[in-house]
This record gives sequence, C-alpha cells and structure tokens, in this order.
Amino acid sequence: MIWLRETDSTNEEIKRRAGEDAPDGLWVVADRQTRGRGRRGRSWESANEGNLYMSLLLRPVFPKESASMVTLVMALSVASVIREMTGLDAKIKWPNDIVIGGKKVVGILTELAFDEQGSYYLVCGVGINVNQRSFPVEITETATSLLTEYISITTEKAEGTETARIDRKQLAECLRERFKADYASFCKVGNMSELKASYEALLANKDAYVRVLDPKGEYEGIALGINNDGELLVQKAEGCVEAVYAGEVSVRGIYGYV
Ligand code: BTN
Repeated sequence: MIWLRETDSTNEEIKRRAGEDAPDGLWVVADRQTRGRGRRGRSWESANEGNLYMSLLLRPVFPKESASMVTLVMALSVASVIREMTGLDAKIKWPNDIVIGGKKVVGILTELAFDEQGSYYLVCGVGINVNQRSFPVEITETATSLLTEYISITTEKAEGTETARIDRKQLAECLRERFKADYASFCKVGNMSELKASYEALLANKDAYVRVLDPKGEYEGIALGINNDGELLVQKAEGCVEAVYAGEVSVRGIYGYV
C-alpha cells in the first residue's frame, strides 16, 4: 500500500503504474486528489485531507464480463469494515454506494483497462468521507462522514468532539485485509454466490420500493435482493421479477436517494 501526499486521481495513478508492470493487489492512497473522479463523469471532491482516497489494482483471471461484480465485493468489504471499526449502521445502496442514515458516506468507481499485452485489468477506486465535518450546502441532505455520524450517536460527546478523528491508516489497512478475504471467496466461484447472504444482510434497499431508472423506460417495484451475478431483483406490480444490471441503470428510493 503506497501513500502519497497528492495525486490527480488514485485511479489514474494506478493506471500509470499498471503500465509499468505494477502487481495485482497494489493499493495507492492519497491525502488529497486534484482531479478526483466519480461515476457517470462526475467529479469527486477530494480536498479534505481527513478523508480516504484509495485505489486497488487487480489483474483478474476471470472473464471481464464478471468484472462489474468486483464493485459489489468492494462495497461489502467497505460496509463491513466500517461497521466493525465504528459500530455505525453502514448499509449498501445497490450496487456500490455506502450509506448511513440514508446519506452517502462512500463512493466506488471501478474501471476496466487494457495493458500493452492486451490483457485486461481493473482499477477499483474507493472514496470514504472519514473525518470531514461540513459539506457544501447542495449535498448536506445527501452526504455525510463517519466522524459526523459517530459523534451523533456518541452519548458522551460534550468534550473532545472538535478534535476527534477516526484513524484513516487503520481503516485503510482493515479494508485491505477484509477485501482480500472477500475477493478470494468471489474468485473461488467467479460469482456472488458465496457473498450473497452477507451482501443482502447489508442491503439498504432490500424489501423496499425502488424506482429503476432504465434508459428504456423507468419502472417501480420492490427490491428483493441480488442474484448470483450481482443483479438487483426487482418485483414489479404485475408480479414479474426483473434482474437489473448495474452498468445500465441506476436505482433510487421512491421517497429519496436510498
Ligand atoms: C461515485 O461517484 O460514487 C464514485 C466515487 C469514487 C471516488 C474515488 S476517490 C479514489 C478514487 N480516485 C478517483 O478519482 N475516484 C475514486
């Protein structure tokens, strides 16, 4: 795990290093990013040095068609580690956002790229709002941090909250270990079957009404869980169950973001 003071984007840093034969399993963590990227071409605010900006290089042997499931594996690992380290009720908003109390605390951006030999590799980038204490007005309703949530549930919070910090290094190292174990379970079978029960236990949208924003037409239904390929199973009003593939659509709660 390499720690940098600053980089443009840890995903880009991994791609540069992948081109120089960096090994499977390399993590790059930065204190801040100058061009942090989110999904769907959005940027990821990365100036706060109390947060974690980290990316992992994977050189998988499974077919690239299975690669989108790695994002779900990472979501499971991140949510589990947050729960273990902080006791916070971190949940997964399918496929890969982590939320606490309905607000987003982690974003994951997985990218597929090719090396000069034509082999594919994956870059799995994770942004965790760890110690950030305030957010721009436009996202105060939808974003939070581990520390903000931790302080809000701590009863003896009168003293010391101004200087309270969550240990980023410990969090990063726990995540590395946890992901290694979850990824091994995934690779053994090449799908989510071994991790499905743990993933569904943390699924914020399970048994909830969701709206599926499918470019071919939006619809609503009840999210039942995931199948072995990591697709979200949504039961429509007429009873049929659709398997929603993460790459094509996004899913919202009926009454809000989750
Ligand atoms: C999202 O849109 O929810 C995904 C955000 C992913 C942000 C992380 S921060 C570390 C890595 N480097 C980036 O530029 N993006 C990812």
